[in-house]
Amino acid sequence: TQDALVVFTPSGRRGRFPIGTPVLQAARALGVDIDSVCGGRGICGRCQVVLSEGEFAKHGVNSCASNLSERSDNEQAWEKTHGAMSPGRRLSCSTTVLGDVVIDVPADSQVHRQIVRKRAEVRDIELDPAVRLYYVEVQQPDMHVPSSDLRRLKEALDFDWRLTNLQADIRVVQELQSALRQGEWKVTVAVVDSERIIAVWPGLREKVYGMAVDVGSTTIAAHLCDLQTGEVVASAGKMNPQIRFGEDLMSRVSYVMMKPGGDGEMTREVRAALNGLASELAAEAGIRVVDILEATFVGNPIMHHLLFGINPIELGGAPFALATDEAVTGLWATEIDLHIHPNARIYALPCIAGHVGADTAGAILSETPYLTDAMTLIVDIGTNAEIVLGNRTRLLAASSPTGPAFEGAQISCGQRAAPGAMERVRIDPVTLEPRFRVIGSELWSDEAGFAAATAATGITGICGSGIVEVIAEMYLAGIIDQDGVIDGSLAQRNPRITPNGRTFAYTLVETDERTLQITQNDVRAIQLAKAALYAGVRLLMDKMGVERVERISLAGAFGSHIDVKYAMILGLIPDCPLDHVAAVGNSAGTGARIALLNRGRREEIETVVRRVDKIETAVEPSFQQYFVDAMAIPHKSDPFLNLRA
Ligand code: FES
Repeated sequence: TQDALVVFTPSGRRGRFPIGTPVLQAARALGVDIDSVCGGRGICGRCQVVLSEGEFAKHGVNSCASNLSERSDNEQAWEKTHGAMSPGRRLSCSTTVLGDVVIDVPADSQVHRQIVRKRAEVRDIELDPAVRLYYVEVQQPDMHVPSSDLRRLKEALDFDWRLTNLQADIRVVQELQSALRQGEWKVTVAVVDSERIIAVWPGLREKVYGMAVDVGSTTIAAHLCDLQTGEVVASAGKMNPQIRFGEDLMSRVSYVMMKPGGDGEMTREVRAALNGLASELAAEAGIRVVDILEATFVGNPIMHHLLFGINPIELGGAPFALATDEAVTGLWATEIDLHIHPNARIYALPCIAGHVGADTAGAILSETPYLTDAMTLIVDIGTNAEIVLGNRTRLLAASSPTGPAFEGAQISCGQRAAPGAMERVRIDPVTLEPRFRVIGSELWSDEAGFAAATAATGITGICGSGIVEVIAEMYLAGIIDQDGVIDGSLAQRNPRITPNGRTFAYTLVETDERTLQITQNDVRAIQLAKAALYAGVRLLMDKMGVERVERISLAGAFGSHIDVKYAMILGLIPDCPLDHVAAVGNSAGTGARIALLNRGRREEIETVVRRVDKIETAVEPSFQQYFVDAMAIPHKSDPFLNLRA
């Protein structure tokens, strides 16, 4: 027989194969990554390739590239049920090599495809989910060769997919006989970590889903991902119903201390909310909840413990011992009362220390400071700020008690980020007149149409990013000095500055319905919060022995809306070239999604967190001094050279 040269792009792998070799077989022989669920039976459509170059005409009408209308029977059958493939595409399992050829494997046909992330400095996510689907045709039982259905299923998986020594959940065995008979001995199984069968369905099944969840103390955010493509197919968020037991973390622990069994109540609440979210996600994506085969979680230590039914009391006081700092792995969804597929697997990233949870592990996995030489700072701002500093040589983590001011609490006109909340503020340094934008409208307050655009929501208050901007702008306009004191002398010539008890206030909005003011107490609350954060950062820099950081990721819901320039003007974060500061959004949630889509990266974060050094800010004597120095705006002694430039 004649040979042909077969070259695959983009991998560049090449080899010679006898004319007539199926393209998929050639690819497998060369170790080229091509997806398949059906094992080359021409029914899943996952193995599509594009024939990009070749001399085929001389090999006749059955050539795989030149005559694209000449589909094989399998391909014609597939196109009948699924619609025509894009021009130039063929099913590699059902197309044979008929001459020298260059074959492109498009990204959507690769198993380990890259999910490209927007920011240049972060690593793309390589798709390699723990749960994968395999279609097999199983031998029928035979009186003369006694063998169980499970045994024959395993043999088929071994023969077609080289999956050896598989175990099976008992619940799979319970459904196996009917699935095999209903599917006429053709079934699709879901296998986790290439070692355990967790689900079986009659016939070909093409889709499987997973959910990645960030259990925050205020909000729970979840993404539903297609595990075959890595795509986020639905997202949903919900208030954490535990809020009725206490706004912040410590009040929830106090609730448990005061009320025996209170932890169980909160565990039930959060699980119920998760079930609600799973239903919402499934409905949005048009799937059933039982199509969700895996769920990954991040959360701070207290949320983590309550989710898994662990009493969080130990986390309420020194020495803040975690029940476990290992990843939670291998649980059944039913073990946490989650009504997705009953055999779905649960994975939670490891917690790091009593105040530094799986959410911080998620942020580390997402931002990968451990892969760079650049001294990287990650701050995740919520009720507490979690701080991670380091690079590939060393990582330090701490939590700093910023309080809820950045979330709008403790501020007279503060509120959570919601439509109607002021999120951008500018103050004219001469007239002291403010301009602002509210969530839900793209217009500034001095633009035509603003009143109409905000008529529905009104102007209800000011959210975290707005507070940071207004205090920074008040400083730039000279309304407050370096110590944060509102200049009362301005009251004589500007009606926006008014006495307020023994201090003064700055009026942002005054209408018949409401007055929004920034009081001296508001400025103080922000100074205290930012000083706590900066002092924590400074402490870690000290421990690390560095004078400056080279890269900053501002994470958290608050962090994603904040204008990084204002964060620096206020001295919330240390000096750093502004173009190296990024607002990265919910990086903890992104970490959960990475763990969902790539099992190798679970091991990666489990290894990385083990070498994170935990710093307890409360017991460090220098913290207090750093805190006092950081009360000034931007700072008592730090010159903030990048800001000046
Ligand atoms: Fe399933 Fe080719 S491998 S259609």
